[in-house]
This record gives sequence, C-alpha cells and structure tokens, in this order.
Amino acid sequence: MAGAPAPGRNLSPVPELIRMEGVTKHYGAVRALDDVTFTVDEREIVGLLGDNGAGKSTLIKVLSGVVPVTSGTIRIRGRAVRIASTADAIAHKIETIYQDSALVPQLSIARNLFLGREPTAGPFGRLDFARMDAVAADLLGRVGITKRIPPTTPVGSLSGGERQAVAIARAMYFDSDLIVLDEPTNNLGVAETQGVLNFVRSARDDGHSCIFIAHNIHHVFQVVDRIVVMRRGRVVADAIDPRTTSVEAVEQVITGMTADGRPVA
Ligand SMILES: Nc1ncnc2c1ncn2[C@@H]1O[C@H](COP(=O)(O)OP(=O)(O)O)[C@@H](O)[C@H]1O
Ligand SMILES: [Mg+2]
Repeated sequence: MAGAPAPGRNLSPVPELIRMEGVTKHYGAVRALDDVTFTVDEREIVGLLGDNGAGKSTLIKVLSGVVPVTSGTIRIRGRAVRIASTADAIAHKIETIYQDSALVPQLSIARNLFLGREPTAGPFGRLDFARMDAVAADLLGRVGITKRIPPTTPVGSLSGGERQAVAIARAMYFDSDLIVLDEPTNNLGVAETQGVLNFVRSARDDGHSCIFIAHNIHHVFQVVDRIVVMRRGRVVADAIDPRTTSVEAVEQVITGMTADGRPVA
C-alpha cells in the first residue's frame, strides 16, 4: 500500500484487520462477554482457547452478526462498523464456519457453495448450473477432497469432513478477509482433521486472516500464529506465541490452575 495512511489508521507494521473493543454481552444475568478487547491482524491466524462456557462462541457470534452486543465497538481496518446480521458480516467479508455449518442437505455441493449468491446466465436470469458445477469441481480439489465426488452430489450424502470442506470452499471462493472456524474438527476423522488444519495453514498464504477455535489444544498449536485465552467471559491472555510456549503452560492459563491444582497468580 503506497502513500500516507488514512487518519486514525493503525500504524503498526502489520495492519490490523479486526479490532473488537470493550465488548460486553449479557444473557440476562449471565455475563458471557465482559469488556473484551480482541484483535486480528491481516494474514494472521489467531487461536482462541478457553474452557467450555468461557465465551469463545459468543465472541465470534458477535463478530459474525448472530447475536447483538450489549456494549462495545467493532472496527475493521480502523473503521467502526455495525454488524447486526450475518448478511452484514458477509458484506464485511467475514465468513464463519460452525461445527454444523448451514448447509442444505438436499441440495448439491455446487448449489450449497453458492447459496443465496447463485450466478445467473442468459436474458431470463436462469441459474447458471454449468458454471456452478465447474467452480465447485475446482474448489473441491483445492480444499483437499481428492476423491472424485461430482459437484452434483447432495450434501446430505457426504461425510462430516467433506461437509466441512464444502463450507470452507465457500469461504475461500467468496474471498473473505476473515474466516472464523468454531470447533471445525469436532467429530472428524484423522484424515479429515488434517484437511481442515492444512486449509487453515494455507489460508494465510492466500491472504486471509483466521480465527480458529478448537477443543484440541494440539491442533491449535499446529496452525496458529498467536493464541488468545478466555476465561469466564474475559480475555486473560492475548499474546501467547505457540512457538515459544508449552502446551502445559497454556493449559494453566485456560484453567487458571497449576498442574498440581493451585490457582495461577
Ligand atoms: N443463547 C444463550 N442464552 C443464555 N446464555 C448463553 C447463550 N449462549 C451462551 N450462553 C452462556 O454464555 C456463556 C459463554 O458461552 P459460549 O460463548 O458458548 O462459550 P464457549 O464457546 O467458550 O464454550 C456460557 O455461560 C453460556 O452458558
Ligand atoms: Mg463454543
């Protein structure tokens, strides 16, 4: 990027893509998020860890427009934005992949890839099935579905990992800036899990940023640039380097306990 940065823009060497600041979310008396500040840089893979109920899913639901915040701000490249719906999030190039992503089992792989954004052809605006199938076939190869699965196959007949791959392919094709994966490897086989981890690694090279939430801390260590830990709705560590930190040390931050059960200072 040439020229002087726009006023108010972050001046750090790696530009900041996302900044959530002072984000609080209450569900009645439950404080799911308590004054959370969370950032993701351009081309950064952030691992978000924390015990069940720590607030990880709520944080990314706020970012993907699924739940409204109680208070706080979200900035994208320094500009305050309002993300009030999943459509808003997609318009801001944020794609979220859940454990059971919103795929329609009865529809084909190709149709699922384009759900709501189907290309049309000809004067009558008919759906361009040929184009959808061609793009789908190419993407399936890129996300590691090497078996020859025709793009016309209904999603309902795919394995869990293959479905995950279709959701990932969708995020790739629509050129999201940020891809959020909330526990994408749960219930996947070994090879399928490796496929998802390979995808996360390659996302950075393709210019995407990622937030990766996984139950398996080893999976997180394998792919992320930085680890953020949440505990009871708060961020308790936001700059853990997986290359210089042990899994055990991070587990202590997650639980707030040392290995022999004493509270961490
Ligand atoms: N829709 C909801 N209604 C009420 N409480 C909720 C809702 N969603 C999450 N919570 C509560 O918010 C807290 C954080 O949950 P969640 O973000 O799902 O945690 P995590 O993804 O880290 O396991 C938990 O105490 C959970 O019970
Ligand atoms: Mg969760």
